[in-house]
Amino acid sequence: MAQTPLSQPIAANWRETIREDLRALSDRDLRRGLRTLSGAQGPVMRFEGREVIQFAGNNYLGLADHPLLAAAVGEAAEKWGASASASPLISGHMEPHETLSRKLARFKDKEAALLFGSGFLANAGLIPALAGEGDVVFSDSLNHASIAAGCRLSRAPVQVFAHNDMNDLEDRLKKAASARRRLIAVDGVFSMDGDLAPLGDLADLAERYGAILLVDEAHATGVLGPRGGGAAARLGVQERVSVSMGTLGKALASYGAFACSDGEVIDYLVNVARTFIYSTALPPAALAAAGAAIDLASGEEGDRRRERLAALCRMFRAGLERIGFEPPPVVSDAEVPIFPIIVGGAGEALALADHMLTAGVFLLAIRPPTVPEGTSRLRATLMATHTDAQIDTALDALESGARKLGLGVR
Ligand SMILES: Cc1ncc(COP(=O)(O)O)c(C=O)c1O
Repeated sequence: MAQTPLSQPIAANWRETIREDLRALSDRDLRRGLRTLSGAQGPVMRFEGREVIQFAGNNYLGLADHPLLAAAVGEAAEKWGASASASPLISGHMEPHETLSRKLARFKDKEAALLFGSGFLANAGLIPALAGEGDVVFSDSLNHASIAAGCRLSRAPVQVFAHNDMNDLEDRLKKAASARRRLIAVDGVFSMDGDLAPLGDLADLAERYGAILLVDEAHATGVLGPRGGGAAARLGVQERVSVSMGTLGKALASYGAFACSDGEVIDYLVNVARTFIYSTALPPAALAAAGAAIDLASGEEGDRRRERLAALCRMFRAGLERIGFEPPPVVSDAEVPIFPIIVGGAGEALALADHMLTAGVFLLAIRPPTVPEGTSRLRATLMATHTDAQIDTALDALESGARKLGLGVR
């Protein structure tokens, strides 16, 4: 190919720009890296050759290493093979997909359900399907990154309202009266803060302004409400939620995600949700694990585990208060197993996480852009299978770490 002479010298080598960006992240204590754990997900795992107590996952009910799930995975792989091998509308929607969709709809008290490859894919598909040009999306400022991604992909104007601020949301809804559709999208339980969205008030506003209400129940599914139905079920408003999204990779101890709604909306999503249409259907074994987890979570075993989890949350909350940290407020007696321990700077959060690791407690420092600047934190998550002694170990380490590092508490 003939080479055209460049009219201007190339400004920078692309590799050098990547190095610069990485250096800038390191300089601000914001560089991330993978850490390899071994052992099944559970209260005790191995990291760098020694045992650590795991407080950083989303395995809230402790089902990830349950023998019934492992057996379901093995049987499904034998019967259905390892992969769905195609997107759902081609040939990837197999019997296990249909069975789990129906089970999810029953679990969530909705007419129908649709499976997605992951929670990120679900939000990245649902929001553009429900809102586009001529519509407006209203998104809580602390929503998960996947909702923010869905908002961007939708090409609809996005109104970001102050966290859980219904007056701000209403003002913005009033100004969008001429939009074709209004879509309100919120986390039911906020993933980095552990607080609940005021779903009753949100449903009131959605009804008053003719808006669709989309609730992301990633962290509430299996954890809150009767039978583990979620935050909306806990607050008695599931019927008023237009689209209830949930994930299979947290309390349900598998992988994937789903949206539940009425049959007409699900039919619409089948036709327009691009991350559903153009992505390979979930492997049957993942669906079998999720199915077994729903059976456990929605029965007596689930009730027992939720009660135990709530007791551990109360114990952990009291311990944090004793140390001087301020846990999130409890709304309607709903104990959420996510505890942000806000320390402020990214460097301080990293130092505290290092101290915890030295004490044998595996916790993650959560820094911008995952959380707003100046609110870096440790995010401690509990699981029903933690022991009282493990909770005490974590609290002791937090106390000594806060003292050693002279951390101001919130
Ligand atoms: C609120 C929320 N929504 C969506 C997701 C994405 O789900 P997934 O991990 O299945 O992609 C997550 C978490 O990771 C989350 O916290």
